[in-house]
Amino acid sequence: MTAEKLVELAIEAQTHAYCPYSGFKVGAALLCADGTVYQGCNIENASYSPSVCAERTAFFKAVYDGHRDFTAIAVCGGKDGEITGYFPPCGVCRQVMSEFCGDDFRIYMIGPGETWKEMTLAQILPERFCASEHMA
Ligand code: THU
Repeated sequence: MTAEKLVELAIEAQTHAYCPYSGFKVGAALLCADGTVYQGCNIENASYSPSVCAERTAFFKAVYDGHRDFTAIAVCGGKDGEITGYFPPCGVCRQVMSEFCGDDFRIYMIGPGETWKEMTLAQILPERFCASEHMA
C-alpha cells in the first residue's frame, strides 16, 4: 500500500461523511500492519456530542475486527467536501491513535490536489499519556 493509494482512499471516504450540521466532510483511511485498510468518515448527530470523527470511525471499525497494529492514517477534510487546506486530526483522535500506535505511526494530512504533509504521532502528540509507561 503506497501513501498515494492511502490518500486516494481517504478522499473516497470523505464522500461517505454524514455532517448535516457542520457541512465539514472528513475522510480517513487507516493502514493496518498486515496491509488491511479501514476507511472512516465523520458521523454527526442532532445532539452534537454523540458525533464521531472520521479517524475514530476508522480505528473503531479496525479494532472491532481484531486489528491492533497500525502503520499510517491519511485524513482529509473540507467544507462541502472541498479540500482547501491540510487537515490535522483533532486532539481526541490523537489520543485514540496514542492508545494503539507507536511514536513512528505516520499521519498523512491531505491538502489540495492530492498533496499531503507527513508527520509522526510523536510529532503531533509529544509528551503523550501512555498506559504502558505511566500506569505500569
Ligand atoms: N472532525 C473529524 O472528523 N476529525 C477531526 O479530527 C476533527 C473534526 C469532524 C467532526 C465534525 O463532524 C466536523 O469535522 C467539524 O468539526
